[in-house]
Amino acid sequence: MSDKRILLIIGGGIAAYKSLELIRELGRRGIACRCILTSGGSQFVTPLSVSALSGEKVFTELFDLDDEAEMGHIQLSRSADLVVVCPATADLMAKAVHGHANDLASTTLLATDTPVLMVPAMNVRMWQHAATERNVAQLRSDGVTVMEPDEGAMACGEFGPGRLPQVPAIVAEIERQLDGQGQSSGKGKGALEGTHCIVTAGPTREPLDPVRFLSNHSSGRQGYAIAGALAAEGARVTLVSGPVALEAPRGVDLVKVETARQMLKAVEDALPADVFVSVAAVADWRPARAATKKLKIKGAGSATPSMELAENPDILRTVSNKRKNRPGLVIGFAAETNDVEEHATAKLKRKGCDWIVANDVSGDVMGGTENEIALVTQGGIDRWPRMGKTDVARRLAQKIAEALGGSDDDVKLAAE
Ligand code: CTP
Repeated sequence: MSDKRILLIIGGGIAAYKSLELIRELGRRGIACRCILTSGGSQFVTPLSVSALSGEKVFTELFDLDDEAEMGHIQLSRSADLVVVCPATADLMAKAVHGHANDLASTTLLATDTPVLMVPAMNVRMWQHAATERNVAQLRSDGVTVMEPDEGAMACGEFGPGRLPQVPAIVAEIERQLDGQGQSSGKGKGALEGTHCIVTAGPTREPLDPVRFLSNHSSGRQGYAIAGALAAEGARVTLVSGPVALEAPRGVDLVKVETARQMLKAVEDALPADVFVSVAAVADWRPARAATKKLKIKGAGSATPSMELAENPDILRTVSNKRKNRPGLVIGFAAETNDVEEHATAKLKRKGCDWIVANDVSGDVMGGTENEIALVTQGGIDRWPRMGKTDVARRLAQKIAEALGGSDDDVKLAAE
């Protein structure tokens, strides 16, 4: 690690003091730190203590002419292997989501072309606020790694998630990120350059009348994260998405649909492709007839209407069984609440796909930020530990790159 360097952005929060310990621990491992201290951060730690520990000049203001002469802010944003924001405040994350550039920290985050790791720390209500949840989901789908905060008693007297993770955990994540860059350099960024991947995501909505529909709780986060991870590896990505509250990851072509039948058509229109990843929670049935006018209550005493259902097309099975234009690698998801691996193995056969990413949705996975999965292939079952949906996406993108390169025996395609 001795040749590695991070750019550490220290945000304004009580946890800023722990950044000093972080700099020291990284220094012990031979990881150099160049630091940006926000004006909020300087209320908690001084530039002098940061520079004493990092052994480098500390950058604070965007329009400091001396700093600009020494190293322009664009150059500063590119001067490290990894940008770490610690503590990442709610404000810094919101600025990053919206692409603000009104101080040195936000400008750096907008200008950087290196991976970004955010380590949040804030009050529990702020962390759990819908705005922060949206921002975290957006950052993750933009390819930023956002660590989960720790849970416990807070400086403000409240209790819950929002505390800065322990310094050893932050160091481990930084090392993992730096290490990952080294390991992937064989194919690394751009391992999927020249390929076309189609990803489906989110729920579908099946209309009953102009104002009512059948749907499900899928947030689309996992599919969006996978689309983002594939694009980050250089693939051209077509993301066919049902209605969700997420923005498309950078560099991805988004096709918005509502129903299962529209989703199938959009996927078929996007073919040919090298890879198809079917993450969408497609409604298995739709109301057999969608009324063109809003259904009305007929009046007191009248019979409750019944709804006839029709089966929707199975998009994954249709694509898996194509004679012409079948993608070389077809991956399905299996959302199960029990006997996960057994059902997933049966689903692999039934759908005719190459891999099944099996996830246990018996807990808080659906709509949440984490996932616990097992990758089921012809070669066997690969169990992954519970991790963030972005990490699942990155790992899956890596596996796809390996499979297309034909380097991993465990994940050989059924077709081989
Ligand atoms: N899928 C699809 N089209 C459908 C239903 C499912 O493409 N009409 C895909 C999903 O995107 C997923 C896989 O099939 O990749 C499995 O979805 P899942 O809901 O787990 O399984 P189902 O086929 O619906 O079977 P069941 O609900 O009985 O488990």
